[in-house]
Amino acid sequence: MLESLHLKNVGPAPEMKMDLAPRLNLITGDNGLGKSFLLDVAWWALTRKWPQDLNANLTSGYAARPTLAGQKATIKFEVESKTGRVNYESSYVPDEQSWLGKSGRPWNPGLVIYALADGGFAVWDPARNYWKTKGNLDIQDRVPAYVFSAKEVWDGLRVIIDDKSTPVSNGLVADWASWIREDSDDARRMASVLALLTPTSGNETLKPGAKFARLSVNDARDIPTIRMGYSQEVPILYASLGVRRITALSYMLSWAWREHLIASKQVEQAPSSRVVMLFDEIEAHLHPRWQRAVVPALLKVIQALTDDAGASVQLIAATHSPLVLASMEPLFDFNKDAWFDIDLEDRMVVLRKRPFVRLGEVGNWLTSEAFDLAEPRSLEGERAVCAAQNILNAKDPTLKSIHETDQQLREAGLPDIDPFWVRWDYFLQQANEADGHGER
Ligand SMILES: Nc1ncnc2c1ncn2[C@@H]1O[C@H](COP(=O)(O)OP(=O)(O)OP(=O)(O)O)[C@@H](O)[C@H]1O
Ligand SMILES: [Mg+2]
Repeated sequence: MLESLHLKNVGPAPEMKMDLAPRLNLITGDNGLGKSFLLDVAWWALTRKWPQDLNANLTSGYAARPTLAGQKATIKFEVESKTGRVNYESSYVPDEQSWLGKSGRPWNPGLVIYALADGGFAVWDPARNYWKTKGNLDIQDRVPAYVFSAKEVWDGLRVIIDDKSTPVSNGLVADWASWIREDSDDARRMASVLALLTPTSGNETLKPGAKFARLSVNDARDIPTIRMGYSQEVPILYASLGVRRITALSYMLSWAWREHLIASKQVEQAPSSRVVMLFDEIEAHLHPRWQRAVVPALLKVIQALTDDAGASVQLIAATHSPLVLASMEPLFDFNKDAWFDIDLEDRMVVLRKRPFVRLGEVGNWLTSEAFDLAEPRSLEGERAVCAAQNILNAKDPTLKSIHETDQQLREAGLPDIDPFWVRWDYFLQQANEADGHGER
């Protein structure tokens, strides 16, 4: 588990500090203010590797660079590891173009899974990526982590180990097909993760189809299918972006856990009961109904996957979705969860922990500190309503200005059902009556 991060002279702000909560950590903020960057740094603190350094096919996950050259840049963090708390400060070494590492055996934070925004995934497995002991020596002769580009999640990943290109994953298409054919626990695990991650209203959970499909006479692959609500079994490669996002996530979770179980047996260790999930743009490609289901489902999915009610999961997720925040209202626990918000203030990026408040209707989240909209409306609607609010608050507005504002509201396309009309119509009527016009 990641307990804290403290960055100086690196990233978009001169300084960023996060005291993380043990269960859910949501990060909000406008485009370009550092949410993905913080997730990359969190992954690095937990695993000591930058995703891009392990797989150049990724479109993100680059090593952090100091902001101002010639000044000290530091990343300080606390990680709760299997053997206790690690408190570490790493500085950037310009000579070596890298962050100073801690010598000796690294820490074991549990299974770490990072879902990148571009569809890539990274997995750090304590049974497969942890350093090995030989006599009194700690030797890292294992793969440092598994980093998949979006394409490799589907087609498989090969990693150079001992100068040999070794397949570490066969990819979703081949693995899922073989799990289904074998009617194995893996197939059941994948199906239950898929069902958990899809909304439960109606009977719309995503289910694997009964048959495989061929895409063409030249393609020898048996492609698993997914059963859609319109009674078709769609080859998974043809499925929509949202369906593929959830299927890829279900596969990566199932693959990571399956391989962790196998490796734990091989190295004669108990499987980890701690999982850290980093998730960028957690709502990416998802319909609102799915957006509001995804975080609560992810909190449950690890227990289902590990079949261990005592398993602990820490989720650190960046989001642009008011529905994701609203979905936390019934579950938010001040002892276990936290919300971080990044703002631009006086041309400076500021990260702070916000007190989580329950706001009810999802539109209220749009106008909250999380998303900072003045009005949960179109830009034109916002301008017109803001101008009307100013008139409502003005001391003695002229009838002309009131009528102009009324016209602006109408031109902005504010619909008849907009609740603002109730207040405005009353005000307009009063103004007209005071002026002797009667009806508007
Ligand atoms: N590897 C890096 N080293 C140093 N600074 C970085 C690095 N990557 C990103 N940044 C800084 O972080 C800023 C924010 O980038 P980031 O991708 O984290 O934004 P974001 O909040 O995720 O935005 P969006 O919502 O558009 O995804 C960049 O403009 C850059 O200043
Ligand atoms: Mg981002």
